[in-house]
Amino acid sequence: MRTVYVNGDYLPETEAKVSVFDRGFLMADGVYEVTSVLGGKLVDFDGHAVRLERSLSELDMACPISKEDLLDVHRELVRLNDLDEGLIYLQITRGAPKDRDFAFPDPKTTPCTVVLFSQSKPGLSDSPAAKTGIKVISIDDIRWGRRDIKTVQLLYPSMGKMMAKKAGADDAWMVQDGFVTEGTSNNAYIVKGNKIITRVLSTDILHGITRAAVLRFAREAQMEVEERNFTIDEAKEADEAFITSASTFVMPVVEIDGVALGDGTPGRVAPRLREIYLDESRKAAV
Ligand code: PDD
Repeated sequence: MRTVYVNGDYLPETEAKVSVFDRGFLMADGVYEVTSVLGGKLVDFDGHAVRLERSLSELDMACPISKEDLLDVHRELVRLNDLDEGLIYLQITRGAPKDRDFAFPDPKTTPCTVVLFSQSKPGLSDSPAAKTGIKVISIDDIRWGRRDIKTVQLLYPSMGKMMAKKAGADDAWMVQDGFVTEGTSNNAYIVKGNKIITRVLSTDILHGITRAAVLRFAREAQMEVEERNFTIDEAKEADEAFITSASTFVMPVVEIDGVALGDGTPGRVAPRLREIYLDESRKAAV
């Protein structure tokens, strides 16, 4: 059985409890991070900690736990759960006031709720999907306007994932005003020749920690990177496509809305970037 972390305590998962009045539960008033673990070490912990702090401050929530303590909790969960490959999920909500109320509670009397748990995923870095590539469909992006804040409002992304499954695909790319924003839980890229194209950072998308690392590695490997909007039609005509996230690293996309990209196999750029990303991440993990 997993050991999880709730507000300072390490508990068996069946004994961990959060109030029915918790604002994460009632109002999706909370933020989260997902950090990958490779070889028992945390990938890009600093990047996730910095983004967490930003998400909290954008929502006027005070960070209840220091970066150093957060790192200790992550490491302790890796140790207690004997985690080799997988993820650490972290969620901080605006806590549990005495009753349901739209107004934010006073943080002095209602402390934030902090929950972390591990997800063991043996073989995550050697996923069969990375060899064959995944299929995506396009759907309208009807999410709220602050997607740069990593909130736990994930209903529409979940629905998008189900629409993809129903269509026989693996994931959905969301489209706003004709342009691709991002995947349900990942950033989206196309490749033309040697050029990697991905949407610019704004409040329209989550600023992926994997995105930042992958673009840095791509530039270091002399690949050309262009940050600009692209349409689904342009994507269908691309040589390659891929997604990035803490849970998929770099994952080739071989089909968009039923149209195969190139010869329908992962191609050259995405697999190379995946290899570089995994090598460098293992080296830098803490
Ligand atoms: N999702 N865009 C969205 C909407 C996401 O939810 C995520 C991450 C990303 C990629 O960010 P990063 O590279 O920092 O993981 C982009 C996580 C993995 C999740 O919800 O499980």
